[in-house]
Amino acid sequence: MNITIPGTCPILCFGGPYSSLQATEAIRREAQRLDIPPDRVICTGDIVAYCANPNETVDLIREWGCHVIKGNCEEQLAQRAGDCGCGFGEGTVCDLLSNSWYAFADRSVRDDVRAWMAELPTTLTFDIAGRRARVIHGGVRVNSRFIFASTPAAEKVSELNAAGADLVIAGHCGIPFVQHVGERVWFNPGVIGMPANDGSADGWYGLIEGTCDNGGLRFSLTRLGYDSFGAATALRQSGHANGYAEALLTGRWPSLDVLPDKERAATGHRLAAERLLLT
Ligand SMILES: [Fe+2]
Repeated sequence: MNITIPGTCPILCFGGPYSSLQATEAIRREAQRLDIPPDRVICTGDIVAYCANPNETVDLIREWGCHVIKGNCEEQLAQRAGDCGCGFGEGTVCDLLSNSWYAFADRSVRDDVRAWMAELPTTLTFDIAGRRARVIHGGVRVNSRFIFASTPAAEKVSELNAAGADLVIAGHCGIPFVQHVGERVWFNPGVIGMPANDGSADGWYGLIEGTCDNGGLRFSLTRLGYDSFGAATALRQSGHANGYAEALLTGRWPSLDVLPDKERAATGHRLAAERLLLT
């Protein structure tokens, strides 16, 4: 789906509300504080996942009216599939954990929420400062593909080629990063509903700013502090807490199965805010 972003800059991007009403309320407040209207806010999907309030989180996103694409979680829930679609190996920690939270999400979401998920686009494209931007969840061809900062550049080149874009705005992997890929840019603004495995409870979001009429763009990654204690408490009360309620407080993921060596080794190391300039 092609969209028009009015006024173009700044654009606020975030992913992974993950059924966290507390984090979603916080990112909406942040957009309001920055005076960014919903038609310049982009969510990269996975509105429903680990946390306690799937319907309330969807309701808040819908009422807000920001741009949203379908994450693998929306894709699977819309189809009444049996799992989250991440393709975790049977019996792995990720597999066991996802069996718990996904089952809770699947039995919790209302029919109208499921119908709304089914209608979400899987990708958005728009033009900014003379460049073509494409919003995806995981990969261009595979929605649940994990692409991290350490994923080889050749794989990102292949994805950017498939995207037909100068700029990809992606989600899914859960850890924010921004990189030049040759002349192009891969921008993953991170997720708000779960920490970045860096030992801090904060979520993350991204901004695209710049003087758009001269072609310069600035990408930044910023922490989102929110009521993580409230989110953890709600998750425990929901009865499917497994390791994620703890992760909301410690900032460390309960399973590192999906992480490449580099990201795994960075567990508990506080991420720095990043900026990247594209001229
Ligand atoms: Fe995802």
